[in-house]
Amino acid sequence: MYVRTVATAAVLGAAAVLNPGPVAAPAQPPAALSALAGIPEESGAPLVIAHRGASAQAPENTLAAVDAAALLGFRWVENDVQRTRDGELVVVHDEGLARTTDVEERFPSRAPWRVRDFTAAEIATLDAGGWFGPAWAGARVPTLRAYLHRLDRNRQRLLLEVKRPGLYPGIEGDILRVLRAEGWLDPDRVRRRLVVQSFDAESLRTVRRLAPRVVTGFLGTPPVAELPAYAAFTDQINPPHTTLTADYVAAVQRLKGPHHRPLRVNTWTVNDPAGARRVAAAGVDGIITDRPDLVREALEERTEPGKR
Ligand code: G3P
Ligand code: CA
Repeated sequence: MYVRTVATAAVLGAAAVLNPGPVAAPAQPPAALSALAGIPEESGAPLVIAHRGASAQAPENTLAAVDAAALLGFRWVENDVQRTRDGELVVVHDEGLARTTDVEERFPSRAPWRVRDFTAAEIATLDAGGWFGPAWAGARVPTLRAYLHRLDRNRQRLLLEVKRPGLYPGIEGDILRVLRAEGWLDPDRVRRRLVVQSFDAESLRTVRRLAPRVVTGFLGTPPVAELPAYAAFTDQINPPHTTLTADYVAAVQRLKGPHHRPLRVNTWTVNDPAGARRVAAAGVDGIITDRPDLVREALEERTEPGKR
C-alpha cells in the first residue's frame, strides 16, 4: 500500500494543476510522471489504462488526452490507429471524422467524411477539440508519429489498437515501420512499453509474424474451449466488462501465451467505481477506462479496511 499511497500523493498535486485548454506542448514531462518514475508498478492491483487517453478529461485520442493522463499520473494509455488516403497513420477512433472533428463544416461536400478519403494534410487542419468543449478548440488529430513522440516525452506506454484493419490492407506493416523508426521496437524496450491489440485475430497474427517480440492483445471474449488456439498468437485476452466472470479470467490466466508467460486480461470500458471493484475482484490484470482517476480511487478504497 505504501507504493500506491506515495503514487497518489504525487499525482494529486499534479491533478490540482490540470486545466482544460488548448494543447500546448510543454518541453518537460508532467511532474506527476516524473514523481512516479522510480515507483514500481507491481502493487498487486490491476493496471489502470487511460482509454483513448484520459478521455473524460480531454478530447479522445488527442495529445491533450495523453497529457491529461500523464498529469493524473497514468503511464498506460490506449489509442486507435487508422490510415489516411495518402498512407499516413493517424490516431482516431471512428471510421468517419464527423463525430470528433469539424470536418462537416470544413468539407461539406465530402460526405461520409471517412478517414481513408482524406489526406493527412487535410486532416491536420481539422479541429478535433471543439466538439468536446470550447476550451479545447484547436486540438488536432495526431499522426501516430506525433503521438509516440508525446508518449516518449511523457515517459508513457501504449496499448495501441489496430482499428478496422480490414479497411486498410497492410496497415500492420505500416504501424510496425513507424514504431521501429521511433525506437518502440528496440529489444530492451518493446515488452515494457507496448501492446498491440485488435478485434481482428488475423491482424494480430500478422503483427506477430512481422515482429514476434511485440506483445499482442485480442479484443473480445472467445469461448473457453477456443482459448488455447488464441494463446498461440496473443498474450492478452481483453474482453468487454459486461462479459466478464472470475471463472473466465482464471481460464485465460491458466494459459501461457506466445512469449511463454501467463495470458493477461485487460477489460474495458469500466467507468464507475462499483464496476471497477467488481472486475478487480474477478482478478483482471488491467482496467481500461475513460476515468482512470475514478478507477484508481475505487481500487484504493477497496484495499482500505472498512471500505470493502
Ligand atoms: O481498448 C478497448 C476498447 O478501446 C475497444 O473498444 O470501441 O473503444 O475502440 P473501442
Ligand atoms: Ca480502442
